[in-house]
Parts: sequence; structure tokens; C-alpha cells
Amino acid sequence: MENLEFLKLIGSRRSCRAYLNKPVDKKDLQAILEAGMAAPSAMGAQDAFIVAVTKPELTAKLRRMNAQVMGTDTDPYYGAPVIVLVFASRTNKNGVQDGSCILENMMLAAHALGLGSCWINRENEMFDTEEGRELMRGMGLPEGLAGVGAIALGYAAKEPSPRKPRKEGYSRIIE
Ligand SMILES: Cc1cc2nc3c(=O)[nH]c(=O)nc-3n(C[C@H](O)[C@H](O)[C@H](O)COP(=O)(O)O)c2cc1C
Repeated sequence: MENLEFLKLIGSRRSCRAYLNKPVDKKDLQAILEAGMAAPSAMGAQDAFIVAVTKPELTAKLRRMNAQVMGTDTDPYYGAPVIVLVFASRTNKNGVQDGSCILENMMLAAHALGLGSCWINRENEMFDTEEGRELMRGMGLPEGLAGVGAIALGYAAKEPSPRKPRKEGYSRIIE
């Protein structure tokens, strides 16, 4: 791939907040998880865990738990058929940074494959409850993890609006 194409891909990713009721191709999902695992991690520790959930009973539970934290009865994952959760050790000072690299890699990979995605918050609060801890055990995860974030993932139901212009002075080069 030309470098320019990759930069265009980064510049055209948008958050998707409406999804088709259509399962994500398993190969594409695996490629997105691979992109997540390709992310750098502090000291190369690979401390994080990535869990892609497609099971409707479980996605329904996650939607309910997240909405509860938010204090609404709407679906915080916008009906996405896949919810990809990222966890890191509670005691890892770089857990959020590591997890953020993973989440962004996965959003860019999704975009490259023609899928929509959106970073969704509140997993920290969701999994810091007895119900959350029980859920993590059910996912086969070790004890002591915190939710870093998640992405809603699926085929976009509508075109995203154009990207907002970047603010004045956002970046600079000092020579
Ligand atoms: C740390 C973080 C948390 C976010 N949490 C949410 C969220 O809970 N729900 C949501 O709809 N979008 C969420 N977003 C997406 C942002 O709202 C979105 O990236 C921003 O509005 C810019 O739009 P764009 O991604 O289309 O460029 C989050 C993004 C980041 C980086």
C-alpha cells in the first residue's frame, strides 16, 4: 500500500453510530483482532486482553450494563452486532495507554475493511461491579482486570457526516 493511502485511511475514519443488523465476517473480525494485537505495549508486556463479543445474550447484557452506568435506557453500542472489549490489569500504570493503542488500531483496521466502528466508554465502571467481575470470569479472564474501553463494530447503516475541521494550533513543529 502507498503511504498516502494509509494516511488517507487515517484521515477518513469516522465514528459510526448506526449499524446494520448483519453479522461481521469472521475473517474480518479476526483481522481486526490481529490489528489490535499488533499495537505496541509498554515494555512489550502485552498485558491487555481483547474480547470480541457477538453472542446476542451477552451483547444485550453489555448494552444494559453500560446504559445503567450512563443512566439511560438507550443502547450505548448503537445496535452494533459486535462489541470488542479491552481490559488491562488494574495495577498496570500503562493499562489505559496500552488499551488505547489497541482500540485505535482496531478502529483503523475496521475502516480499512469497510466496517464502521466507534469507541465506547464506561467499561471501567461496568466491570468494577460484582456482575462485571462475574462476567469477566465467564469470559475466562484472570482476576484483577479493569475495563479500558470498547469498540462498537459492524456494517455502517448510514454514511458518516464530514469530519470537523481541526482546531487552530492543534499541532506545531518547533525547530
Ligand atoms: C476516549 C474516547 C471515548 C469515547 N466515548 C464515546 C462514547 O461513549 N460514545 C460515543 O458515541 N462516542 C464515543 N467516542 C467517540 C468520539 O465522540 C468521537 O471520536 C469524536 O466525536 C470525533 O468523531 P470521529 O471519531 O468521527 O472523528 C469516544 C472517543 C474517545 C477517544
